Amino acid sequence: MANGDLMDKLVSLTKRRGYVFQSSEIYGGTGSVWDYGPLGVELKNNLKTAWWSTMVHQRDDIEGLDAAILMHPKVWEASGHVEGFTDPLVECSNCHRRFRADLPEVEGGQCPTCGTRDAFGPPRSFNLMFKTFMGPVEDAAATIYMRPETAQGIYVNFLNIQGTARQKVPFGIAQIGKAFRNEITPGNFIFRTREFEQAEMQFFVKPGTDDEWFERWKAERMEWHRGLGIRPEKLRFHQHTPDELAHYAKLAFDIEYEFPFGWKEFEGIHNRTDFDLSRHQEHSGKRLEYIDAATNERYIPYVIETSMGVDRTLLVVLADAYREETVEGEERVVLALNPKLAPLKAAVFPLVKKDGLPELATKLHEALRKAAIPSFYDEAGSIGRRYRRQDEAGTPWCLTVDGQTSEDGTVTIRDRDTLEQVRVGMDRVVGWLQERLAAR
Ligand code: GAP
Repeated sequence: MANGDLMDKLVSLTKRRGYVFQSSEIYGGTGSVWDYGPLGVELKNNLKTAWWSTMVHQRDDIEGLDAAILMHPKVWEASGHVEGFTDPLVECSNCHRRFRADLPEVEGGQCPTCGTRDAFGPPRSFNLMFKTFMGPVEDAAATIYMRPETAQGIYVNFLNIQGTARQKVPFGIAQIGKAFRNEITPGNFIFRTREFEQAEMQFFVKPGTDDEWFERWKAERMEWHRGLGIRPEKLRFHQHTPDELAHYAKLAFDIEYEFPFGWKEFEGIHNRTDFDLSRHQEHSGKRLEYIDAATNERYIPYVIETSMGVDRTLLVVLADAYREETVEGEERVVLALNPKLAPLKAAVFPLVKKDGLPELATKLHEALRKAAIPSFYDEAGSIGRRYRRQDEAGTPWCLTVDGQTSEDGTVTIRDRDTLEQVRVGMDRVVGWLQERLAAR
């Protein structure tokens, strides 16, 4: 399968199965904004829960936060985003489309839209933050920004959390939330959008220990993605060159995935030094030092940041899981999702719509829902077609109620990946699934 094809196939599969829809589609869509449908929201929630569980619930040294999207405008002056969060923009004098000046075609002097050569004006800086107004008067004093990263909500709450949670440095604060960037050239489906979600963690450490913590977090985050089941040969690190480093970073590594459109970042590990806390101390006039009670030392901690794009990681998960196979002479498309992430864990089918099988299957489906195992009941079409629909949706197990069920109370469980079938007693199915979900 050609790489370009895979993106087209993913866009169409995710629409067909209710994962992702274009925002405001009935009005022709909104530029590079996407909505998550019934299966998409489940997959996204499962991904975020997996991250939260690892970063917050399984550790004593990281606290959670849910800060507001709208923040005091001075936050973005202090953070350097008003001045420095820009991309170089050029305009084609022939078709008047605007592009990032660092796109390879643009650097080569050719307009990606109309193909005209050497028609670009000089680059100018374009700030990526969305502006809006707070309150009823649209004057400059009320201008505020939609946050372009969630991290700043963590910095301004650093002392609130350290004090109330009685944490000692080193410790971290984690948050998942929306971020907004008025990207000049968004695209590649949910890869680069104007509204997206980040799962970020800022780890506060004593200056001098930052290099060691950086290495630890770099390794931990790569391991986490491998643990999700992403193929290791499709993952790599990329170290930022001095030109690529963000205004706040001393050292940065991206975790990259080999997408159909090339190796691209989906998570960044950054050593932000004491840049952000020092700037907030300066701009707010409030001391943001940590006092070590044991030694009486005062210092502004350094920060190691892990910043994962939720939507981009979702694209990694989907692209990595997509397979086309021939099974018993028939083509099938399958999303081999990690069962922990899969939106539906099981589908329940009566083999035929008679002999009391729909009633038995409904009973089983209800037992699964009662145990909070997301399940789908389907009695429409041939059993083969029902399997194919669930393969595409990424459902790991299909449970079929057949003639034998009425005799001995067992159902067949078919594994999405191996296609193996086993018979399990109806009263044991919930436990059987729970055991397998816990083991992943
Ligand atoms: N707080 C640091 C920070 O925001 P970043 O490298 O600009 O660093 C971190 O962004 C992650 O956020 C990226 O690795 C990516 O996954 C995600 N991200 C950034 N811009 C995005 C966009 N326009 N659309 C989707 N995801 C984006």
